[in-house]
Amino acid sequence: MPIPDAIAAQLPEFVPGTVWLVGAGPGDPGLFTLAGLHAMRSADVIVYDALVGDAIMGLAPETSELDYAGKRGGRPSHSQKDITERLIAHARAGKRVLRLKGGDPFVFGRGGEEVLALAAAGIRFRVVPGITSGLGGLAAAAIPATTRDTNHAVILMTGHPAAGTEGPAASHADWAAFAATGAPLVLYMAMTHLDAIAAQLMAAGMGANTPVGIVADATTPRQRVLVTQLDRAAREAAAQGLKAPAIVAIGSIVGLRERLAAFALGPEGAS
Ligand SMILES: C[S@@+](CC[C@H](N)C(=O)[O-])C[C@H]1O[C@@H](n2cnc3c(N)ncnc32)[C@H](O)[C@@H]1O
Repeated sequence: MPIPDAIAAQLPEFVPGTVWLVGAGPGDPGLFTLAGLHAMRSADVIVYDALVGDAIMGLAPETSELDYAGKRGGRPSHSQKDITERLIAHARAGKRVLRLKGGDPFVFGRGGEEVLALAAAGIRFRVVPGITSGLGGLAAAAIPATTRDTNHAVILMTGHPAAGTEGPAASHADWAAFAATGAPLVLYMAMTHLDAIAAQLMAAGMGANTPVGIVADATTPRQRVLVTQLDRAAREAAAQGLKAPAIVAIGSIVGLRERLAAFALGPEGAS
């Protein structure tokens, strides 16, 4: 797949000894950027995560070295320290190092930690944004992240307890403060603790009938969407076998899907 000349001429050179952090988007290879494709074609080594789909990995030239940095098939997860050390070692060996991450590299993807480590090691880097699943996933499920009638803000947050957090699951966030904003919450990594999160939001005064939309495997041919409400979201998601990776949207924007789903063309078709 050639990159149009007019665009290729504007893409920066991938200089040996540098690291490019590239967002692969939420899954659909059609949402991968041309800058990302350019990086894949030029890289000597590609250090990639589990959430980067096969269709995008299939764009890698046969000659490139593939260095898996995720968790898959029961293999133990690589530690963040191990991954950054590998990035630094590849760069110091004079390679063009592509660090390929799902979604956007700076949204709940530890891309921030990685570039801080690169900077501390004196290694030059470039960040190529990708479409984050929290926004791309909602769009693909016909749930507008904002409309003028529903909300002037949207909160992207993690439902996963931060590493090292003490105490009960999902207690790391001030759920009452987030609920009080009235803005829709868009949760990443929330499936494991969805029950506890919903309970804390309801304890903070959020209505049990607040609309909840869960988009699993967003933008892929496996995409599934569940629209439910806060007090039964975890139970229904489990009953329907919805699993990670999934985005959970909570708030009135989810209700808009009802008016759109019959006409929206998407991975899972009109439903
Ligand atoms: C470690 S975070 C990485 C987020 C990523 N950097 C981004 O910008 O989308 C992983 C979480 O992203 C969400 N996610 C990633 N890809 C997804 C997809 N195709 N469909 C639904 N959720 C997805 C899930 O909540 C998953 O648990």
